[in-house]
Amino acid sequence: MKMPVAVLLLLALSIAIRIDAEESSEVCGFKPSLKPRPHSVSILEFGAVGDGKTLNTLAFQNAIFYLKSFTDKGGAQLYVPPGKWLTGSFSLTSHLTLFVEKGAVILGSQDPSHWDLVDPLPSYGRGIELPGKRYQSLINGDMLHDVVVTGDNGTIDGQGSVWWDWFESHSLNYSRPHLVEFTSSDYVVVSNLTFLNAPAYSIHPVYCSNVVVQNISVSAPGESPYTTGIVPDSSNNVCIEDSRIEVGYDAISLKSGWDEYGIAYDRPTTDVYIRRVYLQSSSGSSVAFGSEMSGGISNVHVEQVHIYNSFSGIEFRTTKGRGGYIKRIIISDVELKNTNTAFGAIGDCGSHPDDNFDPNAIPVLDQITLQGVIGSNITMAGNFTGLAESPFTSLCLFNVSLAIRNTLSPWTCSNVVGFSESVSPEPCPELESSSVCYSLLNSYGKSTDI
Ligand SMILES: *[C@@H]1O[C@H](CO)[C@@H](O)[C@H](O)[C@H]1NC(C)=O
Ligand SMILES: *[C@@H]1O[C@H](CO)[C@@H](O)[C@H](O)[C@H]1NC(C)=O
Ligand SMILES: *[C@@H]1O[C@H](CO)[C@@H](O)[C@H](O)[C@H]1NC(C)=O
Ligand SMILES: *[C@@H]1O[C@H](CO)[C@@H](O)[C@H](O)[C@H]1NC(C)=O
Ligand SMILES: *[C@@H]1O[C@H](CO)[C@@H](O)[C@H](O)[C@H]1NC(C)=O
Ligand SMILES: *[C@@H]1O[C@H](CO)[C@@H](O)[C@H](O)[C@H]1NC(C)=O
Ligand SMILES: *[C@@H]1O[C@H](CO)[C@@H](O)[C@H](O)[C@H]1NC(C)=O
Repeated sequence: MKMPVAVLLLLALSIAIRIDAEESSEVCGFKPSLKPRPHSVSILEFGAVGDGKTLNTLAFQNAIFYLKSFTDKGGAQLYVPPGKWLTGSFSLTSHLTLFVEKGAVILGSQDPSHWDLVDPLPSYGRGIELPGKRYQSLINGDMLHDVVVTGDNGTIDGQGSVWWDWFESHSLNYSRPHLVEFTSSDYVVVSNLTFLNAPAYSIHPVYCSNVVVQNISVSAPGESPYTTGIVPDSSNNVCIEDSRIEVGYDAISLKSGWDEYGIAYDRPTTDVYIRRVYLQSSSGSSVAFGSEMSGGISNVHVEQVHIYNSFSGIEFRTTKGRGGYIKRIIISDVELKNTNTAFGAIGDCGSHPDDNFDPNAIPVLDQITLQGVIGSNITMAGNFTGLAESPFTSLCLFNVSLAIRNTLSPWTCSNVVGFSESVSPEPCPELESSSVCYSLLNSYGKSTDI
């Protein structure tokens, strides 16, 4: 009885995925304005010195202030030639390309007074690590349109070691900065660059739409605390492609705000496409959802992903008080190696911003499909621990084959309902009901008709 249904399900699913893949190239493959800007200036024209010692914050600020006058003339490019360009935080403008040449390194200053302080994000209500303000990122964009941060494999190096030490010794006064952050911006491209040693995150689009991250490399040492690669946060139409990310904590982490602040701000992360990526996360998860997800996370497609030397492969995190949802997620064509826990879905993960969260704001996790997974040297296949008040539903596993390192019970399941077919090792009985996945597939079928 089960087999024919399963075969139909697999067929339906593979058709749905193929149609979605075609649609996605329209959704996030917006034509980034990669044609040369009509005007270009070099940072040298603004007195910058590339000796790795001279502080160039003012040169970057002055250059960008000058280039603002070209925003309604087709935009402009700021060219960063080979050299080591030490700087504090600075902000971009619309219709700008920041081009970092081969051999050019933008170095983040290790003096915190060179990093401006900014208000917390409204969807978080406070700095994530400490209450109150937070350090502004090295490179910022607020309310911008059409911005490109690119190069010929130039480097943006946050020199984060001082920040990691301050974090670990509890001597920070404000939450750590990121390397690149865009807020409330659209048509943003980040490509062809290397990002090193972020103090915290490397790339953080928040309240953005139409963001493409392509062909970049991100790295931070495995032991660097909570260093995170790319964090799409309350943003829609985000594409992350052809990139390699090796960091201390999560490689790609999707978020949408924190408890009552995220619920009030009410901006989901939706329509995200991640493909052809190589991910390593020493102490976190290579692909993480949450735990801050109070605005909701939906319609995420992850495919052709290679995960290695990671603590966790793919993890869904939430907790009571978050509200929100994580739903309609399809992850397919995954290769996992040398990873402790292949899949996790955890209902009691993460802390609260303050005591004003609503304990009755129960999050929902629904319609998650993991398909076409091959794994070797895995310790735990899956840990699915839902909430008694709101069990995780429609968790579907198809064609999953994990070579487990002598673990007696590779799956842990509670408060979860789902379906599995062609999964080894044999999953827990909670994943054996089929009707839930049938309705999931119907809903995907419908969504592709729109
Ligand atoms: C990726 O970026 C490198 C430089 O970082 C460049 O040489 C290469 O052509 C890019 N590849 C694609 C497909 O854009
Ligand atoms: C890009 O630069 C980094 C270091 O700056 C280097 O390790 C890497 O091999 C380069 N990649 C390409 C494609 O040139
Ligand atoms: C935090 O503030 C104290 C007191 O003003 C100061 O001594 C310390 O250097 C600051 N820490 C950092 C990392 O800036
Ligand atoms: C990356 O660099 C390659 C080679 O120079 C170029 O063809 C491509 O358009 C660039 N891609 C982006 C998205 O900037
Ligand atoms: C298996 O993975 C672990 C990390 O989870 C690693 O330490 C170990 O070296 C790997 N073993 C082999 C044979 O690759
Ligand atoms: C099962 O998954 C593997 C790994 O992604 C893939 O190579 C294979 O084609 C899949 N098989 C089916 C029947 O979908
Ligand atoms: C599964 O996750 C829960 C929640 O984080 C944790 O308490 C438990 O120890 C995990 N189980 C295993 C076997 O790792």
